[in-house]
This record gives sequence, structure tokens and C-alpha cells, in this order.
Amino acid sequence: MASRIVVENVDAGYGAVRVLHGVSIEVREGETVALLGTNGNGKSTLIKCIMGMVSPEAGRVFLETDGVRVDLTRKSTEEIVSLGIALVPEGRRLFPRLSVEENLLLGAYRRSARADITANLAFAYDAFPVLRSRKGQLAGSMSGGEQQMLAVARALMSSPRILLVDEPSVGLAPILVSRVIGKIKELKERRHLTVLMAEQNFNQATKIADRGYIERAGEEVLPRRVVAHAVHWRGPSSSKPHCSHAWK
Ligand SMILES: Nc1ncnc2c1ncn2[C@@H]1O[C@H](COP(=O)(O)OP(=O)(O)OP(=O)(O)O)[C@@H](O)[C@H]1O
Ligand SMILES: [Mg+2]
Repeated sequence: MASRIVVENVDAGYGAVRVLHGVSIEVREGETVALLGTNGNGKSTLIKCIMGMVSPEAGRVFLETDGVRVDLTRKSTEEIVSLGIALVPEGRRLFPRLSVEENLLLGAYRRSARADITANLAFAYDAFPVLRSRKGQLAGSMSGGEQQMLAVARALMSSPRILLVDEPSVGLAPILVSRVIGKIKELKERRHLTVLMAEQNFNQATKIADRGYIERAGEEVLPRRVVAHAVHWRGPSSSKPHCSHAWK
């Protein structure tokens, strides 16, 4: 089954504030796609539109599997998770007063994921040995890097095929940023994931992204007009991306 996410001409915002204007992106099976842009340009808003946490005012978000389109704009976040899409949210959103293991188990709340709890927990502890040795520790007392690893591991507890990661590098020292980004690449390969990652850290994101989009707020007409430019990299190792086409 080959699945891709298709975002078509999405307008979205909060009340009177329009954040996204006619944004279209596509994330194909097996790709790692970077969503780049500085503060406030709408990266999280776009990710929330895909997860059903923000309703687009116009446009559509689809999950297309073997040519069959499921309209995500009409689905709840729970339904979207059940379709195999998981989010590592900005700011990690852990339960600080619950243990590491309790946080992991909360990632497996959907019914279909419960059957895989034992295997997924074993995978999480294998992929992140620090989580095994700290499984009883309160999540809020873990270091920033450890908390980010926990947030990624928790998302994998729902057995996703598509992983959305919102700014994994925020607040981390450079050495930890490299480690977290490297871990996402490793997990992608081990679990055959498709990854969409929002990042401000251009250099780190382009290390693992096959290609990406840059969101930027335009000054013209609308105060929060976002133009998504498609930028393609020849491969993760090539350093200088070139623009191929753009949408407005
Ligand atoms: N719940 C909300 N209510 C009102 N405005 C919001 C809300 N969430 C975000 N915004 C506004 O929408 C715009 C885009 O925010 P968003 O969080 O999508 O940007 P971002 O690219 O993820 O930024 P950052 O890199 O800082 O995470 C910002 O101007 C922000 O203030
Ligand atoms: Mg954000």
C-alpha cells in the first residue's frame, strides 16, 4: 500500500487572522519532506490542518492510498491517527508528572494500536536505550533531549506509517539537535516511514530531507499571506537546494 498526503490550496487561520493562503504540498510514500520557515510563518498551522486540529477555511487535505483518496478535512484527529498518521507535537506535549513508560503507553490509546503495545514498547526501548533505563522516571524531570526522544517514541506507539514532526530541534544544544535529527532518519528507515518535518534549522533539516517546502509570510495584500515554495534537493548529502517551482 503506497500512501501520500496531498494538501491542496488550503486557506487556514484563527478567527480573523489568516495564516495559510492557498498552500499546496505533497508528501509521497517513503519521502522525508522538510517544511522550512522562520517563526510564525505557519508551519505548525499546516501540520495541524493535516492532523485535523485546525479546520481549513478552504482547500482540502487528502490521504491517498493506491489512488483512493480519503478526505482528512472531514475527519477528527482520532480518526486521522487511526489512518496511520502520528504527530510529534511542537514543544513535545508530554505529561510531565507521568513516568516515561506511562507517556509511551498513552501513545497507544487507539484500539488498533493496543494489540501492538508489547512489540512497540520493545522497539521504543531498543531504539532509545535511555528510555528503558529511565522508564520509571517522571517525564518532566528528563533533559530536553531525552524528552524529545520520548515524544518521538510516543508517536511511534500508534504504529504510524506517516510521521509528522513539528520542530524537533527547538531548545536543544547543537549536539543534541544532530542526534535527534539522526534518530528520525534511523527510525524512518527501520520502520519504513514517510516523514514530514517542520524545522527552522535549515542545515539540520536538509541533512535528512529528500526535498522540502519553504513557507514565508508575504508582505502584500494579506498580512499573513503564506507562499509555499517547493525546493528540491537532489539527495540528503547535496548541500545547495535549487527552487524548481512555486505556488501562490
Ligand atoms: N491558536 C491561535 N490563535 C491565534 N493565532 C494563532 C494561534 N496559533 C498560531 N497563531 C498565529 O498564527 C501564525 C502562524 O503560527 P504557527 O504556529 O503556525 O507558525 P510556525 O511557523 O509554526 O512558527 P514557529 O516556528 O514559531 O513554531 C502566527 O502569527 C501565530 O501567532
Ligand atoms: Mg511551529
